[in-house]
Amino acid sequence: MLIQSTLIALSATLAAAVKPLTVKNQFFVDPSDNIFQIVGVAYQPGGSAGYDAAHGKDPLSNGDICRRDAAILQLLGVNTIRVYNLNPDVNHDECASIFNAAGIYMILDVNSPQVAGSLQSWNPWESYYDTYVNRTFAVVEAFKNYDNTLAFFSGNEVINNLESSRDVPPYMRAVTRDIKNYVAKHCDRKIPVGYSAADVRDVLFDSFEYFTCAKDGKSDDPSRADIFALNSYSWCGKSDFQKSGYDVLVEGFKNTSVPIFYSEYGCNEVQPRPFTEVGAIYGEEFSSVFSGGVVYEYTQEENDYGLVKVNEKDQSVTLLKDFYTLKDQFAKLDWKKVQGVKSKKEGSAPKPPKCDSNLIQSEDFNGNFTLPNMPPNVDKILSKGVSPKPKGQLIDVSDFKVKYTVKNADGSVISNLAVKPLASDESNAPGTNDAKIQSSDSVVAPSGNSTSSDSDSDADSEDSDVDSKESGAAGSAAALTLPAMVMGAFAIFAGLL
Ligand SMILES: *[C@@H]1O[C@H](CO)[C@@H](O)[C@H](O)[C@H]1NC(C)=O
Ligand SMILES: *[C@@H]1O[C@H](CO)[C@@H](O)[C@H](O)[C@H]1NC(C)=O
Ligand SMILES: *[C@@H]1O[C@H](CO)[C@@H](O)[C@H](O)[C@H]1NC(C)=O
Ligand SMILES: *[C@@H]1O[C@H](CO)[C@@H](O)[C@H](O)[C@H]1NC(C)=O
Repeated sequence: MLIQSTLIALSATLAAAVKPLTVKNQFFVDPSDNIFQIVGVAYQPGGSAGYDAAHGKDPLSNGDICRRDAAILQLLGVNTIRVYNLNPDVNHDECASIFNAAGIYMILDVNSPQVAGSLQSWNPWESYYDTYVNRTFAVVEAFKNYDNTLAFFSGNEVINNLESSRDVPPYMRAVTRDIKNYVAKHCDRKIPVGYSAADVRDVLFDSFEYFTCAKDGKSDDPSRADIFALNSYSWCGKSDFQKSGYDVLVEGFKNTSVPIFYSEYGCNEVQPRPFTEVGAIYGEEFSSVFSGGVVYEYTQEENDYGLVKVNEKDQSVTLLKDFYTLKDQFAKLDWKKVQGVKSKKEGSAPKPPKCDSNLIQSEDFNGNFTLPNMPPNVDKILSKGVSPKPKGQLIDVSDFKVKYTVKNADGSVISNLAVKPLASDESNAPGTNDAKIQSSDSVVAPSGNSTSSDSDSDADSEDSDVDSKESGAAGSAAALTLPAMVMGAFAIFAGLL
């Protein structure tokens, strides 16, 4: 009852729950000039199938599902989601507004597994053309007006081994340049654009140097990434700072001139996952260089990284063991302290190095900074804007009650679950949504293993072994980028051009 009336009282002021973040020095800052740490979760219910172009469906197209998940993610304690595959032509107003009211920012990949949906590792020169670039611009159009749009990823793990590092870098930097130019010309604010890298150590630091250096040494170089992120799975089980190599990452990135963060983390080689890296990620040493990270991932899919399990038949959700553990790890930290570090004055970040092939260590990695020109026809789209233009805007949301059943790991139903709308310029933190759930000590079932009552989880475990070995990054990317059939379709399509 009390909850109900609070909701109604707040609903009049909803349209602007979070304020846009900005990049200052090598960090994100909030409107009070505090350094913002990303506490995120990868959000792609259904995996790559969650983007269903034929039915106008993507992860942010259904308000009732977003209401359900925003409430659950609020309860978990996160302030950011990362969404991989979006359809610029469907309406996202309700979902964006719900996440906004919940104090949750969105990091959005501009690519998709569809034909002309992304730059391909094996033939970047053929996949860089007007239809593709137009798609990246269209995603910017669709999301630019939401205050909780935090950043765009121009690419995810497109460079994933030495072979792809021979051809991809100039094309990837060119795509980043085009999107940045589009943002500069068509957006009211400078929404950051950058690259999400595979944590393949042979190419990681070269990728970082290649994308974040400045041609002519000027930091406003339009082809220089505004942010850099990596998908990192090096902390498995109860690891530590040295064993996981986090010390190497802090050392290697400490001169960064742009915000850097984990665009995925959460190794699943040891299950259930203890998530002890959370304390390290938001500890002083790591957060003096990094801006937090995104846990992979919200829903249980074939590769076995889920925090919750969605039942597709009735859209009910069951919280899994890892959800409770991660929630506890987040709750342990002193967020007032973590999120309360004041930004230093503008200009105190390390200067970006001048782009030069001597920044690149590997002999294979393409250190050519002369970028390909924009493909034919793109200059017109860049100057006039995408046509027809996808439009998005925050709307008032007054209904926050979750309509689907959400269950604890033990099967008991969580009652009265609702998104708790936050006050203006607040972002979500552990404790804001205090719906009662099962105590985590009493959760026994390991997530995703055959002890789960769902019959389809058995079949998944084989895949997950393959995925999590080398690095979960590669596994997850495979699941989220191109299914083999789409690749085939693309090859045929490209051949016709
Ligand atoms: C550009 O994107 C918009 C929005 O998705 C689409 O309607 C239009 O057909 C695209 N144009 C080109 C040239 O690909
Ligand atoms: C960081 O900058 C310092 C001072 O310029 C330099 O000595 C050091 O080698 C740099 N570290 C890395 C990893 O680039
Ligand atoms: C660098 O890339 C540009 C543009 O694609 C190309 O014209 C040039 O030949 C390349 N330079 C080298 C040394 O490969
Ligand atoms: C599932 O549990 C069994 C038995 O405890 C274990 O051998 C197996 O590795 C587990 N699989 C996963 C994916 O955790």
